Amino acid sequence: MNAQIPAPVVPQQVTGPLTEAAVFLVLRVRPGSEPAAAELLGDVPGLVRSVGFRATELSLSCVIGVGSDFWDAAYGTPKPAQLHPFRAVHGAKHSAPATPGDLLFHLRARRQDLCFELAHRIVDAFGGLATVEDEVHGFRYFDERDLLGFVDGTENPTGALAEAAALTTPGDPFPGSSHVVVQRYTHDLSAWRGLSVEDQEAAVGRTKLEDLELPDEAKAPDAHIVLNVVEGADGRERKILRDNMPFGSVKDGTFGTYFIGYAADVSTTELMLERMFTGADGAAHDRLLDFSTAHTGGLFFVPSQTFLDDPDTGLRAAAEA
Ligand code: HEM
Repeated sequence: MNAQIPAPVVPQQVTGPLTEAAVFLVLRVRPGSEPAAAELLGDVPGLVRSVGFRATELSLSCVIGVGSDFWDAAYGTPKPAQLHPFRAVHGAKHSAPATPGDLLFHLRARRQDLCFELAHRIVDAFGGLATVEDEVHGFRYFDERDLLGFVDGTENPTGALAEAAALTTPGDPFPGSSHVVVQRYTHDLSAWRGLSVEDQEAAVGRTKLEDLELPDEAKAPDAHIVLNVVEGADGRERKILRDNMPFGSVKDGTFGTYFIGYAADVSTTELMLERMFTGADGAAHDRLLDFSTAHTGGLFFVPSQTFLDDPDTGLRAAAEA
């Protein structure tokens, strides 16, 4: 290979296809075990191949995110500029808490057995080094609906726009990377069902059956999509890439949405959270929060696959950038 041409940076499968099933795993690494755990991260693609190759048509993928404290202990400096612990947001009525977590594994496939098998293999591999802090099994609910009954994901960017929203550019010290924010929400379904469909639509800002955006003049200031459409100084909309999944338990009466949002610039996600929980433009807070409680909150950096394969070279390149 020509030594003049740098090897291409391969991102993780952040912009992978939406799937019918997902597992969200958050691990806590035992203090002192971070360097050993970082070594193991390089082996995860091999596990994905072992499990996924048994049914390639089911598109198994795994995105790995690393938390701020983990980065400090495992990789040191340089550190991605936007990697910090999740910042809790406290509004007058609702809060987005920050909860512990060193590693996030976002497993996706067209069938749950593949996600389950891979989750099992990953937890086995990290055996003595880490404990499972949170585990959520998400499923597709009809036509991409959340358990509130609304289609979730419509306004997501796709193709090149998804890459632009979610992945850092070649000029970044850590190119081909992303930042991911996760929150586990549960819904008060009986209170939500107490609303008329019109009031539910006002809370979201879209129609329920056909998933059409309400006309601007009909949108309530505290509608979910009003607070989550944010613009940059140049007047252009700032986008993130979401892949929320419903989860639940009828026994426990748990009806949830696992929120997951990828962003090249995590301040976009943080601005959305700020607006949802503390309000903006005449809204006290996002109306959806009157029916949805955030139980967890984590921010993770998603290095490129190239970085995970060879962190030393990635850190050297970042220091020189
Ligand atoms: C209880 C958790 C949540 C539920 C049930 C939920 C549900 C929805 C639904 C039904 C839509 C409309 C369809 C669509 O375009 O996807 C939507 C849009 C959106 N949501 Fe959420 N969401 C949740 C949390 C969040 C959070 C925490 C953020 C950001 C930090 C967020 C950001 C967005 C954005 C950016 C849009 C698209 C707005 C637009 O361009 O029209 N959501 N969400």
